[in-house]
Amino acid sequence: MSKIKRFTPILAFIVTTIFALSACQQEAASTELNLLCTPQVEWCEGMKAEFEAANPEITVNFVRMSSGESLTRLRNEKDNPQFDIWWGGPIDSFIAAKDEDLLEAYDSPNLGNIKDPGLMLDPDHTWAGVYVGSLGFATNQNFLDENPGLEPPRSWDDLLKPEFSGQLMVAHPSSSGTSYTALCTVLQMRGEDAGWDYLNAYAGQVNQFTKSGSAPARFVGQGEAAVGIVFSHDIVAQIEAGAPLVLTFPEEGTGYEIGGMGIIKGAAHLDAAQKWFDWALEPATQELGPKYAAFQAPTVNGAEASMPELLDVNLIDYDFQYCGENKTAFVDRFTNEIANADSLKE
Ligand code: F6P
Repeated sequence: MSKIKRFTPILAFIVTTIFALSACQQEAASTELNLLCTPQVEWCEGMKAEFEAANPEITVNFVRMSSGESLTRLRNEKDNPQFDIWWGGPIDSFIAAKDEDLLEAYDSPNLGNIKDPGLMLDPDHTWAGVYVGSLGFATNQNFLDENPGLEPPRSWDDLLKPEFSGQLMVAHPSSSGTSYTALCTVLQMRGEDAGWDYLNAYAGQVNQFTKSGSAPARFVGQGEAAVGIVFSHDIVAQIEAGAPLVLTFPEEGTGYEIGGMGIIKGAAHLDAAQKWFDWALEPATQELGPKYAAFQAPTVNGAEASMPELLDVNLIDYDFQYCGENKTAFVDRFTNEIANADSLKE
């Protein structure tokens, strides 16, 4: 028998096996996606519904959790990850997660859509930015009316006014990315020594720390405190819903977030996680926010910001690397020396 004749059945076997394997792989495409979702629950629900409509074969199971809680959860589940992808929350936490090897790099074909890759994309592609938002102050209008002559705060020092004693509301930086952004903004603007002194004084003004970053906007709207330190888009969402709030910014400078997204290392539904990642970097996806009361600005070309004025304020040159690398240490210091994280308001 010639060599060619002997080789033919082997070749046929190899080809058949390759076809069978690829058919198997197609059958094994994920039908579920476990999403860790950090933005407000209304947006998470909207994104789930939109993704499922675009990918009817996949069911999205999501849990809404604040940034710090998410990081702790991912850390605890490192050997047995339950989530496939983490979407939303300031990138400081994604930088911390990358440092702990919790994220899987992914070269999405849509990375090229990102407006400012130097700022909004991890050089190793473990996380990508999906939105941008600035920190602001929410003041209850009724409180101002009851205190004639009192102006809403327009500087970080205004928060220390005696009139606002026991009247500030902010989340705790151990659970919330919003609050951590405020903490790290202050440390960068004032330097660490003066910054920690300021944070001590500011914590002394706090009525109650909350778990979630956006909650103070709601509580201040309900009159439970006079001033909240919250991302400005969350203040706008409450104003749109009818809350009596005034939005102001610290004129000397305010911090901002880049909301991140990253695939979890060891994700069970990697293919579905990659689909979400690609989809979240589409301009049409990033324009969905306002439909779900989310007014953060997009990070991709071709998507219009719904409220560009929220970024047209005095933003500091926020150093995400510094804040990400020091997140655990700074949060521990705040918790141990300034205010513990017991009994946070939901
Ligand atoms: O509500 C939306 C939002 O403010 C996002 O813009 C932000 O990334 C996230 O919440 C932060 O949530 P938390 O402060 O609870 O970690």
